[in-house]
Amino acid sequence: MALALLAVLFAAIYFEAARAEYGDVVINEFSDEAGMRPVVFPHWFHRVRFRCKVCHGDLGFKFEAGGNGINMLKIIDGEYCGACHDGDVAWSIENCDLCHSGIPNTPTQVHHSTVQKLVATPEPAAEAASEGEQ
Ligand code: HEC
Ligand code: HEC
Ligand code: HEC
Repeated sequence: MALALLAVLFAAIYFEAARAEYGDVVINEFSDEAGMRPVVFPHWFHRVRFRCKVCHGDLGFKFEAGGNGINMLKIIDGEYCGACHDGDVAWSIENCDLCHSGIPNTPTQVHHSTVQKLVATPEPAAEAASEGEQ
């Protein structure tokens, strides 16, 4: 309880201090290894819809990119992204590519670009292959 309160307080302070910077978070602790594209989480897009507390308090997301050990089992169980991406609050997890949209091999990070710079162009594999040939 006290911890949750602290998290909310921290969030309030952080928001004051760094209002302008809400980078997209690339989460790639397991995706590449599993043959999926890295996940791009558009932080600002979500932030304008929900208070910090919803995710960093109630849903238990720690303030650390890649620091939550999120995997699909937990998501399907309704934890983390799965708390909302259930076809009710937001579109459901069948839409693999909407989350797994990153450029392959992008490491876990907070990126201060717009999401577009991180999202793979169609056919990244073909592009990589032709680059290799030149
Ligand atoms: C709402 C967002 C979201 C959707 C939709 C989604 N995923 Fe994921 N997935 C994640 C996140 C977040 C992780 C953790 C990423 C990491 O650390 O690499 C993950 C991890 C994975 C992993 C690696 C770890 C594990 O659990 O095995 C696989 C494989 C995976 N997803 C497959 C899928 C498939 C297949 C679909 C569609 C049926 C899907 N995902 C849809 C968010 C999503
Ligand atoms: C819809 C859910 C959601 C909301 C709302 C949200 N966040 Fe996040 N936040 C996340 C996720 C997901 C991550 C990445 C966690 C991971 O990779 O496991 C994250 C990561 C962070 C990080 C860590 C970035 C780093 O450097 O590693 C900070 C700081 C943060 N959020 C602050 C905030 C603040 C402040 C607010 C409110 C203004 C907020 N978040 C609102 C989901 C959310
Ligand atoms: C608190 C609820 C909530 C949580 C938690 C949440 N999302 Fe979302 N997300 C939403 C809503 C609502 C939308 C908008 C859905 C719509 O437009 O139909 C959305 C949209 C998105 C989009 C599309 C953004 C765009 O530009 O259209 C992506 C990608 C996404 N979420 C990824 C994730 C990932 C990855 C996680 C977990 C790390 C996550 N979300 C966790 C509520 C949430």
